[in-house]
Amino acid sequence: MTTLQIEQLNANIGAIIHDIDLSQLHADSLTQIQQALLDYQVIFFRGQQLSAIAQAELARAFGSLHIHPIFPTVADVPEIIVLDSWQQDLRDNELWHTDVTFSQRPPLGCVLQAIKIPEHGGDTLWSSATAAFAALDQDLQQKLRGLTATHDIRKSFPLERFAQNEVEREKLVQTFKRNPPVHHPVVRSHPVTGEEILFISEGFTTQIDGLDPAESDELLTFLFAHSTAPRFHIRWQWHNGDVAIWDNRCTQHKALFDYGDAHRIMHRATINGDIPYYEIAS
Ligand code: SIN
Repeated sequence: MTTLQIEQLNANIGAIIHDIDLSQLHADSLTQIQQALLDYQVIFFRGQQLSAIAQAELARAFGSLHIHPIFPTVADVPEIIVLDSWQQDLRDNELWHTDVTFSQRPPLGCVLQAIKIPEHGGDTLWSSATAAFAALDQDLQQKLRGLTATHDIRKSFPLERFAQNEVEREKLVQTFKRNPPVHHPVVRSHPVTGEEILFISEGFTTQIDGLDPAESDELLTFLFAHSTAPRFHIRWQWHNGDVAIWDNRCTQHKALFDYGDAHRIMHRATINGDIPYYEIAS
């Protein structure tokens, strides 16, 4: 068995795995990568150049794949969404978010590949939602454990910006109807590690259920800032061909939109997840 070269990036989140070709993975390497994902929450691989089919194959090693209700995809590979700064309005990706929490079963994780990176800018940040929860004071932790929050697709895909004409508008309205707001525990348990996760994000969380609107807004404003503080996050500077795999159950991320009119293209595969729950740690 070959032991992977794993370099941890900071105390809370992130590692690079060196000297590996993701298009030719052996079973023992895959097992180590799956463990590294649990240990580091986001893992990076330099210089891969995976075809869309190979990227989908890699993601499928973690679970079945999700088809996004809004983003365009690679032709003939509907599991790979294309995030192209010249084709779409990507400003909302600059909000800290956990992908697709507007669904009952938010994704387990994602495999993101850099296809075209601007000369300057376009970094992505990931934040650890387990470290953020652990750093809260105990009274607040206890208060949050019993709560749920509402997550709404419309927060990051507003009609005004995502529908340029009547046809797109109608399509988006139908998408909203198929994806009504959902409620998730504010603190969820990681289904594998059992760790407690602060499961809210600015991208999709609209309110804490059962609190009056002012109290909910105040608490969410605090939690959004706390959960993404620099001590909990890692910043990745992309090169073409880099791949990131993240555990979407216990992280938030945001893509900086600091490259003006330069062209940035990313391909993302999204791995289906399960229904978030909270189980009292034993
Ligand atoms: C995403 O938000 O899923 C994509 C992040 C990126 O484009 O870097």
